[in-house]
Amino acid sequence: MSYEIMKKNIERAQQEINGKKDKVKNGKMRQHYHFMAQTGWLNDPNGLIYFQGKYHFFYQYNPYHGFWEWMHWGHAVSEDMLHWEYLPLALAPSESYDDHLRGGCFSGSAVEMDGKLYLVFTAATNEGRGFEQTQCVAYSEDGIHFIKYDGNPVLTAPKGVAKDQFRDPKVWEHEGVYYLVCGASHGNRAQALLYRSKDLYHWEFFSVLAESRGEWGSMWECPDFYPLGEKYVLTFSPMGAGDHTAVYFTGDFDYNTGKFDCRVTGEIDWGLDFYAPQSFQAPDGRRIIVGWSNEWEWMPQWKDWGPTYKEGWCGFFNIPREVRMLSDGTLQFLPVREIRALRKDVWDRDELAVTEDGVALSAGDGICFELMMEIDLMETNAGRLELDLRCGNGRKTACVFDFENAELRVDRTNADGWSEGVSRSVMYLKGKKGLDVHVFSDQSSLEIFTDQYRNNHSNNVFAPSEQNLLSIRAYGGTAVIKDIMTCGLKDACHS
Ligand code: FRU
Repeated sequence: MSYEIMKKNIERAQQEINGKKDKVKNGKMRQHYHFMAQTGWLNDPNGLIYFQGKYHFFYQYNPYHGFWEWMHWGHAVSEDMLHWEYLPLALAPSESYDDHLRGGCFSGSAVEMDGKLYLVFTAATNEGRGFEQTQCVAYSEDGIHFIKYDGNPVLTAPKGVAKDQFRDPKVWEHEGVYYLVCGASHGNRAQALLYRSKDLYHWEFFSVLAESRGEWGSMWECPDFYPLGEKYVLTFSPMGAGDHTAVYFTGDFDYNTGKFDCRVTGEIDWGLDFYAPQSFQAPDGRRIIVGWSNEWEWMPQWKDWGPTYKEGWCGFFNIPREVRMLSDGTLQFLPVREIRALRKDVWDRDELAVTEDGVALSAGDGICFELMMEIDLMETNAGRLELDLRCGNGRKTACVFDFENAELRVDRTNADGWSEGVSRSVMYLKGKKGLDVHVFSDQSSLEIFTDQYRNNHSNNVFAPSEQNLLSIRAYGGTAVIKDIMTCGLKDACHS
């Protein structure tokens, strides 16, 4: 019976998508190589997995309009993380535990067991006792059509944890045992709770993997935990921790005690649009993360979700990034190498001396492009270097390398007549000879990677296509730029 209700709700959603997708496809703000849904609202990446020869991306999804509501799980598959085939929705609200307009099938993860694909997700509802979040399971033989487990929910909030702040299970297998890390709020402080199970249905509490003592906020959304070499990485998006949107902790983990000894903390991305990343392992062993390129209304720098709702859609993922660890325990986040296959019209230049006169650069069509360069810190005596992107109509997004104040800023004050805000991070240059910079520009976003992919800024920019110029200018001296490469990008994922 309950299977029938979900099936009906998926069919209804599918009709809605089919009716709108051709119109939405022509929206002027649509991205060209970032992952998006066909229509409607998308937020977190869910259930990322390589299964039966394909990458599966699921996503928090409201197919009905461009705002968050009544969460479903969308589903798409790809062989290269760039070109996507949309599949029928995987989950729709259908049960008393997940059927609510301000609830639904919230974030979760996917895991393979005995050749079948399992989704473990948060069900969010309100049956008159306030909002409640529980963890539930759905399974599939073919990786396309899912059935919710009859015995749901499989996990409810433990004593002391707020019933409406217990969500986003990330599951993995280790030596025949399944582990699940879940975000929770206990006494208004955030926790990552660790559970274990032999069958994905029966879970026992194992440990508090990590918790906030106040400094890391009141709730951690979308926690994730994975090995990287000999070490372990915990990531989450904290609520109530100021401007932090996506944080990592690295350290040692002991499966005997469930204890995580965290030694290093850092920011995955300092931009205003990088949230709720989830990781998965590629068949070649790479650890890849994908984030949602936006933020929530409760965050200090939030303005709105951008103007794309007018085109009947909202939301895209950031470029998938490979995670690597350096010997000091800090993490690098490199755009996956698959994306290099999209390069066209490559333009190289060995060296460029930049002064206050500025230099116009050319990169693809000035909208979808890559730019790589190295700032020669030994030869540079300027106080500040400004890379202006998506310029035109008197507007620009300024990426400022402020050497005097050792700060990197991406300034959207005059970006597009819509966006606002300045993202900032410390630019640590002591002892360095050069600073590497890598920019990805797509129709509606800019991703800027620096300092060996450790100091990164993702920001959405909704500039019209007439804003297609870029230039670079130094203030208070000369800046020397080396090994410049720019290229255009083929329209990859959406035709
Ligand atoms: C994070 C989040 C999750 C939740 C989902 C709801 O962006 O708030 O905690 O499961 O979005 O769509």
